[in-house]
Amino acid sequence: MAKTLLVTGSSGLIGSEVCAFFAAQGFTVHGVDNNQRAVFFGPQGDTRWNQRRLIATLKGFRHHELDIRDRPGVLALVKEIKPDLIVHTAAQPSHDRAAAIPFDDFDTNAVGTLNLLEAARQACPESPFVHLSTNKVYGDAPNRIPLVELETRWDYADPAYAHGIPETFTIDQSTHSLFGASKVASDVLAQEYGRYFKMPTCCLRGGCLTGPHHSGVELHGFLSYLVKCNLEGREFKIYGYKGKQVRDNIHSYDVARFVLEFYSAPRCAEVYNLGGGKENSCSVLEGFKLAEKFTGRAMKYTYVEQNRIGDHICYYSDLRKMREHYSKWDLTKSLEQTVREIVEAWQTRK
Ligand SMILES: NC(=O)c1ccc[n+]([C@@H]2O[C@H](COP(=O)([O-])OP(=O)(O)OC[C@H]3O[C@@H](n4cnc5c(N)ncnc54)[C@H](O)[C@@H]3O)[C@@H](O)[C@H]2O)c1
Repeated sequence: MAKTLLVTGSSGLIGSEVCAFFAAQGFTVHGVDNNQRAVFFGPQGDTRWNQRRLIATLKGFRHHELDIRDRPGVLALVKEIKPDLIVHTAAQPSHDRAAAIPFDDFDTNAVGTLNLLEAARQACPESPFVHLSTNKVYGDAPNRIPLVELETRWDYADPAYAHGIPETFTIDQSTHSLFGASKVASDVLAQEYGRYFKMPTCCLRGGCLTGPHHSGVELHGFLSYLVKCNLEGREFKIYGYKGKQVRDNIHSYDVARFVLEFYSAPRCAEVYNLGGGKENSCSVLEGFKLAEKFTGRAMKYTYVEQNRIGDHICYYSDLRKMREHYSKWDLTKSLEQTVREIVEAWQTRK
């Protein structure tokens, strides 16, 4: 019999990629999404187009119009489906947006995650549960690492971080933004359901997760939004750090591939930093060059001296733990290829 997958946030970037990837593996896929991204970010954040794409292209895909804050609804759905795998990607995903909507942010990110974890414990405690966490759980503590300024980017001066930020990095006593705080709560909850109840849970602490199916907006979806601005001739605002702030970018396809590896050999209460690593990192200025290379259009931008509160100056993930635990997994999409796909996707969607 076909295995069953439940994906929350199925119309979003990661959720939709996971749905398509596992449908191709023969899974029966159930998606939960209520287009809350349009509520968080306005019409530019609307993900209905992606929901329609999944319904049109994935055989047997079932969409559930459900808010993960609806506790009885979540408990009933998980009990009914008893999925063999749960991938939880629904979230209020923006660092900056959270300050204006603290209750919606915490209720979605922390309480919504608790609803799902408890529903899983009651209905299918043996099924792997993958939680999409974030590098913002480390707050702005990575900014304390001494840096070296290069021509177009910052980099770590301390050789201890030559491979990037490891999972052992402190999550304590730094500025997280309310988003980072609600995600810390969900991250620790997912770990606790693993340790306390012995459930096969895993937190993926994302750097910049990206890809062609993102509904990028200024407050979330760095590369997707950058490319969109370029194509529309819109001005991109750089906030501080001379535009040399570094993000590591991973294609959503490589995220889905990791989820399959975890499903195939699950572990309890694990935590992984998941990003493009140093090889797929770029600064904002370097991101401009990449977009220009594939669109042939010059990037328009303005510079604002004030950085975003708690924003990382330089962040790239140390991927060694993932590679050690799951030796068959590695990055397959280069940053160049990813940017090219994002450019093509926006051109098609326009
Ligand atoms: N994209 C990134 O750069 C990035 C980086 C680090 C961590 N993450 C994490 O990865 C996960 C997925 O991110 P993404 O980029 O795919 O986000 P996304 O916004 O593209 O997708 C999230 C989806 O969840 C849905 N959703 C939000 N609240 C909901 C609710 N209450 N009930 C039901 N559905 C709801 C939204 O409508 C959206 O379609 C999130 O947990 C995010 O915090 C993302």
